[in-house]
Amino acid sequence: MTTEVFGEDYTKALDAALAIEIFHNFSLVHDDIMDDAPLRRGKKTVHEKWDLNTGILSGDVMLIVAYRFFENYPAEKFRDLAKLFSKTAIEVCEGQQYDIDFETRNDVSESEYLKMITYKTAVLVGTAMKMGAIVAGTTEEQAQAIYDFGLNLGIAFQLKDDYLDAFGDPETFGKQVGGDIIENKKTYLYIKTIENLDDDRAEALKTLFNTTPEDPAEKIDSVKALMHNSGAVKLTEEAIEKYTKKAFEVLNTLDIPVHKKAVLQEFGEQLMGRTV
Ligand code: IPE
Ligand code: MG
Ligand code: MG
Ligand code: MG
Repeated sequence: MTTEVFGEDYTKALDAALAIEIFHNFSLVHDDIMDDAPLRRGKKTVHEKWDLNTGILSGDVMLIVAYRFFENYPAEKFRDLAKLFSKTAIEVCEGQQYDIDFETRNDVSESEYLKMITYKTAVLVGTAMKMGAIVAGTTEEQAQAIYDFGLNLGIAFQLKDDYLDAFGDPETFGKQVGGDIIENKKTYLYIKTIENLDDDRAEALKTLFNTTPEDPAEKIDSVKALMHNSGAVKLTEEAIEKYTKKAFEVLNTLDIPVHKKAVLQEFGEQLMGRTV
């Protein structure tokens, strides 16, 4: 999409797009191991269907396969794409480590959370968009602007991911609803709930998030009720909108035709409104 909005044929971007897609799926295979997740896209996760070693190794291979797609570009583009990709891949791993570290911390701040999701999720969206600009051969300024557009959209995307993890429809969501609550993930919902509850109930929530019960159903129900009653759900929806709007502001600064901005704007709106 971004190659095309910068006036180049989209087919030139397909190898870079495949690299991003396979890298993304690699990160999910390993993420599902780290998050002990049983379900992905409505199917058993790789480590559940086969075993842990298969999940680790097939993920490793996917990462290498992803890199291979850059070999199809001329030397200079190869260098620019691979350089951006490597920087981003390291950031994703850093974000994933924060995410895991936060499971056992009770004092994660909003800004720490935002940094964590910027690294684990948003940089990849920014990078995917910037690769389109690199393939199209735009100025560095335009490439940076489309990166920032993707970055803000990526933050909104992860906020929505956290929301759906707790409040998605189990029939269509394709992942285990409540998985973040089971794993004591410090999501935006959690942080806003703690901030807006009275001291006693905030303590009760913290206690719930220091336990890992055999049957998590009751914990999930209690936490979701607290998230709702505290107003955190509404605050999360507002934050999703805020970062989507920020993305659109960046979009407006881009030096591309109006009808091409509309394509990207529609994409952003779809992401904000998604239910799976
Ligand atoms: C995963 O974040 C981010 C990466 C794979 C890098 P989540 O753990 O929230 O993603 P889901 O909810 O399992 O899809
Ligand atoms: Mg996960
Ligand atoms: Mg995760
Ligand atoms: Mg998630």
